[in-house]
Amino acid sequence: MLVKLANGREIPVEMYKTRMVQKVTLPPAERRLRAIEEAGYNTFLLRTRDVYLDMLTDSGVNAMSDHQYAAFMDADDAYAGSQTFYELAGAVKDVLGYELVMNVHQGRAAEHLLAKVFAKPGGAMITNYHFTTTKAHIEVTAGCACLELYADEALNTKSVHPFKGNMDLQRLGDAIAKYGPDKVGYVRMEATTNLLGGQPFSMENLKAVRAVCDQHGLILIIDGSLLAENAYLIKVREKGYAGRSVAEIVKEMCGLADLFYMSGRKNTCVRGGLIATNRKDLFGLLEPWLPVYEGFFTYGGMSMREVGAMAVGLREMVDEAMAGASIEQIKYMVETLDGLGIPVVTPPGGLACHVDARKFAPNLRKEGYIAGAVAAALYLVSGVRAMERGTISMDRDKDGNDVYADLELTRIALPRRVYSLSHIEYIIDRLQWLHRHRDLIQGLKFVSEPPVLRFFLGKLQALNGWGRNLVDAFKKDFGEGW
Ligand code: F0G
Repeated sequence: MLVKLANGREIPVEMYKTRMVQKVTLPPAERRLRAIEEAGYNTFLLRTRDVYLDMLTDSGVNAMSDHQYAAFMDADDAYAGSQTFYELAGAVKDVLGYELVMNVHQGRAAEHLLAKVFAKPGGAMITNYHFTTTKAHIEVTAGCACLELYADEALNTKSVHPFKGNMDLQRLGDAIAKYGPDKVGYVRMEATTNLLGGQPFSMENLKAVRAVCDQHGLILIIDGSLLAENAYLIKVREKGYAGRSVAEIVKEMCGLADLFYMSGRKNTCVRGGLIATNRKDLFGLLEPWLPVYEGFFTYGGMSMREVGAMAVGLREMVDEAMAGASIEQIKYMVETLDGLGIPVVTPPGGLACHVDARKFAPNLRKEGYIAGAVAAALYLVSGVRAMERGTISMDRDKDGNDVYADLELTRIALPRRVYSLSHIEYIIDRLQWLHRHRDLIQGLKFVSEPPVLRFFLGKLQALNGWGRNLVDAFKKDFGEGW
């Protein structure tokens, strides 16, 4: 929640208190250099013993509530017919408004089933923007083109547009005309577009997309992995919604979709995922495949403990203090950095503070994997683990050439209810220092590279050993330690 201080400044105050803690350590600069070299300059491959603040992702690393832990203990472990599953179904009905639900082991498992069932080989799936795993399933599982119909403004990283996650309606009409409605598997709206910097779409846009889908008989799907946060941003940014609760907005959003899926690892603070709908015909197409890939319908690949905690997490996610918990921290971080002249994606969105790495390190050539280099550099000067969301996150084309990402973002994720304002101030300070020393950052090159989703396991090398030079400069200012 935002509170106004006596001096007029607004700060996000935590609407929770810590009742269990995990010790973290801040490894000194030399150890950070050794660790990132061993990790092949890929922050995914760092070990947490070498990480101070783990801001790689907000997935599966949020703090659960006391009530969620209680649900862990209370879960009914039955293979079939578990009462805990029906508790989840009740929460899905109450919070999302859907009668039918199936669990899956995580978000991408939902994407797999949806791609398999709605595939139109040689056709297309339409989305406001892709997510890495969504695109992989659309292309690999469904054999479809992944059409991303965002508006030009979406790629403007310094913007005041409140809804850069909107779908461009003109482009939507053109794409449907080009492929023909029977060749479009589904239209997908990602609630806060992860790879555009967590930018939301508006209710107005969602309604307009719904109308186009109705006109052509197309299935509209919401990826609601960050649903509550998109709803929170609608509340604070969209005309007519200030007086509505996040819970009401979530219901209205869900009411516009034929099918809904989510990774439960983000908004509901657990592991796992789900698919939900009110359309029996669509559910009936998906259901037979559930036991083939995930498990019996009352657990769907999840532990019942997580299902129980998910039921609680779903109800908690629409609590305004929860829906806004990371949003307000991100806003504080983005606005402070922006005020200091550090290039970050604006306006602030959900999930993370995103550094616009192209502007942050303009000396780097695109062949040098700019966002990856900035993520490695941030780790070297702070022990903070961020994630590359740029060209390394794109796989090569069929001729083996790099596909340069629309944006080169270094994503500093804010898991829910985990970090405090002093953590955020620390990162802001180290980013400022790094920005002053940006000329020391050079590019990266691959030394080993898997053929698909290479960002997970690929290993790289710092060109001309720049990691050493950066650490030496850091030690001059901060000594051997931190
Ligand atoms: N959709 C969105 C919008 C996501 O952000 C993610 C995951 C998924 C689907 C896939 O879900 O991981 O449960 O299989 N995002 C994570 C991230 C991995 O770090 O942003 P999953």
